[in-house]
Amino acid sequence: MNKKEFEAIAAVKRRKINFSEENVKPYILPSPLLRENDSRITSVAEFEDSGRKRLLGLFEKNMYGRIMPPPDRLSFKVVSEDANALNGIAVRKEIEIFCRMSNGCSKTFTMLLYLPKMNYPVPCFLGLNFYSNAGCTSEKSVALTSNPQYHRKPGIWIPEPATATTRGKQAACWDFENIVRKGFASATIYYFDLFPDGPEWFGDSIYRLFKLPSNWNSPERDFGAIGAWAWGLMRGVDCLASLAEIDSGKIIVHGHSRLGKTALLAGAYDSRISMVIANCSGCCGAALTRRNFGENLEWILHYQPHWFVPKLNDFIDKESELPFDQHSLISLIAPRPVYISSATEDPNADPRGEFLATFAAGEVYHLYGDSGLSNDVMPPPDTPVGSFRVKYHIRTGPHGLTHWNWIQYLDFAENYFSSLRSQ
Ligand code: GCU
Repeated sequence: MNKKEFEAIAAVKRRKINFSEENVKPYILPSPLLRENDSRITSVAEFEDSGRKRLLGLFEKNMYGRIMPPPDRLSFKVVSEDANALNGIAVRKEIEIFCRMSNGCSKTFTMLLYLPKMNYPVPCFLGLNFYSNAGCTSEKSVALTSNPQYHRKPGIWIPEPATATTRGKQAACWDFENIVRKGFASATIYYFDLFPDGPEWFGDSIYRLFKLPSNWNSPERDFGAIGAWAWGLMRGVDCLASLAEIDSGKIIVHGHSRLGKTALLAGAYDSRISMVIANCSGCCGAALTRRNFGENLEWILHYQPHWFVPKLNDFIDKESELPFDQHSLISLIAPRPVYISSATEDPNADPRGEFLATFAAGEVYHLYGDSGLSNDVMPPPDTPVGSFRVKYHIRTGPHGLTHWNWIQYLDFAENYFSSLRSQ
């Protein structure tokens, strides 16, 4: 398909996207606590024994695919260190994460890490980034990426590849100085280094370690890009957990937009992740699919077929037949804390759907004794609401991750970890 044909199809699909509350049809959310035989899970033990596994299996089969196991061999190497980073307040490290399989295949990517200069071990934020590690900081000596560069393909929207022009491009979104001043470390990995974001790049992704080229475009493909990015976060956790400076019981995974979807998935799978923050994660992130408001399955699968398993196509215009909705993904993070956030000028991500999913995830948090969001009335802008473990806000402004967002996330994390200390 050339660019023109692709756009013509997209234009038809765009007209079908619903941006009116009045057009949201009544729906019933499948309970994350209902078994296949319609009996109900009523205890933490039952949820941990079978409920969790059943839900993960449903997401795996119908949406994100399987998450690959760790590589046969994993090693870490500090390739640069600056003891006086961020004007002297931080230690900066670039750490190569080297994955090797016994069949000889390997893949290397780099984690950028800022550490405060005190009180080790410290809690640590970990998130993937859009424009290479160097795009997250104005510090000029950070490497762009050790992997090949990628280019736009006609018809497919791809973020700019990492080049010198991307240096510092998203430094404001990372807020490293404030995070470090609060006594947290912050780490990031470039998402293209795990899976360059296009349907034609399975072969350059981590799947080259695990899968054959004949699998890439098979209608039975049971893996996808979001699963690859989540896998990368898990390798980031492996690396952080090996460092004496990091408190491995306090690793907070966060992500914005498609990387917010990824953070939720990684958090659902990996219990070593002790807190999850999903910022403007939208369709197939925190937003309820059944509301069919803003971006929908048809649209996302046209633009991003590689993010999901092909089976998700079966639910276009049949969203109510999905055996789950996104509140169940959030509920898989329980009892660990989760923060879901939206922005007022981001209708595409369906802020109300993100809020209602966070509320509905409360059903599982209640099992663990947390009250979740207290009601389903959407809070006014810029007003975080929720419990000790479940928080939500809608920020005034467009789709994005801002300093104001970080103030809320730092408060949430500080509050949670400090009460753990006093228990
Ligand atoms: C696109 C995509 C969204 C996604 C966003 C982003 O708009 O359709 O689902 O969240 O990109 O990642 O920026």
